[in-house]
Amino acid sequence: MPTVEYGTWSYSGNKEPSTVMLAQGHPGYSDDNYRRRRNAIAMAATRYRPGDPIPEIDYNPDDDECWRQISDLLAERHNTFACREILQASARLQLPIDHVPQLRAVSQRLNEISGFGYVPAVGIVPVRQFYGSLADDTFNSTQYIRHLSQPLFSPEPDMVHEVIGHGSMLASKRFADMYRLVGRAVRRVTTSAAVEAISRFFWFTMECGLIRENGDPMVCGASLLSSYGELAQFRNATIRPMDPADMVSQDYDDKTYQPVLFCARSLDHFEDVVSKFLQDVDDEYPSKLNASWVI
Ligand SMILES: [Fe+2]
Repeated sequence: MPTVEYGTWSYSGNKEPSTVMLAQGHPGYSDDNYRRRRNAIAMAATRYRPGDPIPEIDYNPDDDECWRQISDLLAERHNTFACREILQASARLQLPIDHVPQLRAVSQRLNEISGFGYVPAVGIVPVRQFYGSLADDTFNSTQYIRHLSQPLFSPEPDMVHEVIGHGSMLASKRFADMYRLVGRAVRRVTTSAAVEAISRFFWFTMECGLIRENGDPMVCGASLLSSYGELAQFRNATIRPMDPADMVSQDYDDKTYQPVLFCARSLDHFEDVVSKFLQDVDDEYPSKLNASWVI
């Protein structure tokens, strides 16, 4: 039977994948109903073609309860730890608190606010495609939600990450413009090392970025915004000033809380550093770094 596994896809000929492989230990591994929903969501994303309406997903009461619990907890932490720009943007986005939103509705709202929209993704999208599409105001998003047994944890980027995390950023015209610059930079470079440099920079800015407000580091990055646990822990990390060469040289593990984070002096400073790096980065950039990952 053709299968789709998180992070990789295996297709048989031109048939559609029909099974999402969840690893043993995945919170939804033993829940047949959950797995059926995951399979249906993967199938809908596989059948999606550009220009189609985003598929409507038949979330069930467990999914809605999971969303209600995690979105309530995250909102509380955002009030304490998210930067002002994110709080204002997420207020504009007006996500529901009692049920999983349809990605189509969030996409329409985002389009009105910043011109960005979502397209459905089966799972992890190849890096050039994922980043490059940002230049077209398009964000590839999964549509499944984590399992109700562990509402604070997801081994994969789910709707909580894509919508509460990235959606809150994309509802800010300033952050949305920075995402577009990421897309243009990836389309401009030709080497995989240059794409890796941009990907690392994206991690420490759009996923894990911090902005100082009234002396305190506040969160703007999607990975932190969607992690209830890490929102309470990130100030224990080593927090360094924003420095693209340092950020791009820094190794990271996206499965653990970050031991090193980078903080801008202000939103203006964050925007300046991001814009300058993404406008300047080219194929020669990685060879100028004295970084272990650059071959
Ligand atoms: Fe992300």
